[in-house]
Amino acid sequence: MASPSPWFPKRILISHNLHEGLGEFLTARRPDLTVRALALADISAADVEWAEVMVGFRPPREGAWRDLRWIHCIGAGVDAFLFRTGLSPNTLLTRTSEDFGPQIGEYCLARALAVTQRLRLHDADQAAREWRPTHSERLAGTRVVVVGTGSVGQGIARAFRAVGCSVHGLSRSGNRHEPFDTVEPLDRFAAVLDGARWLILACPLTEESWHLLDRSKLEAASGAYLINVARGAVIDESVLPLALDQGWLSGAALDVFEREPLSPDSPLWPRRDVTISPHISGLTTIPGAAAGFLTSLAEVEAGCRPELTVEHQRGY
Ligand code: GLV
Repeated sequence: MASPSPWFPKRILISHNLHEGLGEFLTARRPDLTVRALALADISAADVEWAEVMVGFRPPREGAWRDLRWIHCIGAGVDAFLFRTGLSPNTLLTRTSEDFGPQIGEYCLARALAVTQRLRLHDADQAAREWRPTHSERLAGTRVVVVGTGSVGQGIARAFRAVGCSVHGLSRSGNRHEPFDTVEPLDRFAAVLDGARWLILACPLTEESWHLLDRSKLEAASGAYLINVARGAVIDESVLPLALDQGWLSGAALDVFEREPLSPDSPLWPRRDVTISPHISGLTTIPGAAAGFLTSLAEVEAGCRPELTVEHQRGY
């Protein structure tokens, strides 16, 4: 690809949702920009047409966003813009530089400790004014398998190693990576899962990882407890109730779903072996979101390909 020429985009459309101050934050640093910051649902086709660059986590419902010259994603996963969306191959897609690993590591650890310390049971007993001693389980010494060894997977691995777990990564390449005890390629799934107490999903959603956990993989999950902080569609969600009923999984903490918000009709809601949270394990911050965009903008202005550029083919 020819190297890009310097470009000085000025009209920036921000879908802010949880980050209402992001527009002000950016204009305070770059007063030469004209920023239009709106809640995602309020972005019209005319706003998209006006924009030279869009900054956000999900695409708007209306407008030709697929043909924008540049989209900067402020979340770790870029799939909302890239996965089966028809995004123009000419669109520059950049992603945040924010490291969600430590935060998501804490989320996963909290979910695992809630299971080993029987927190739900104690809450229920307290609500019922019942004194019922129960045995807790040790988290230390258990085997953790993390699918995805990027910055999020590494943050999770650090959190579990800190409490004495052994942590094993599964990735496309199987290349060794700190701080995992071992890393193996995904085709070793069943062997690596053998004896695992925890199976944690932390990979991007791509053509390769879509429904990665299908029925046969779930059958090979060895009774592990599943924690999904990746994307809902990494699992064939329709098989989850069966996987739990059959004991292929001993339970699940799910932060992401194939369709969000999770439908009130989902069979997952009432299950006592499932814990649901509304996609909150790694939350973007305003300074974190702004940093990656401003760095990439400086590179675009200098005529360089931003370091945070996502390869469309690879999907992340
Ligand atoms: C959240 O899911 C993110 O990708 O940042």
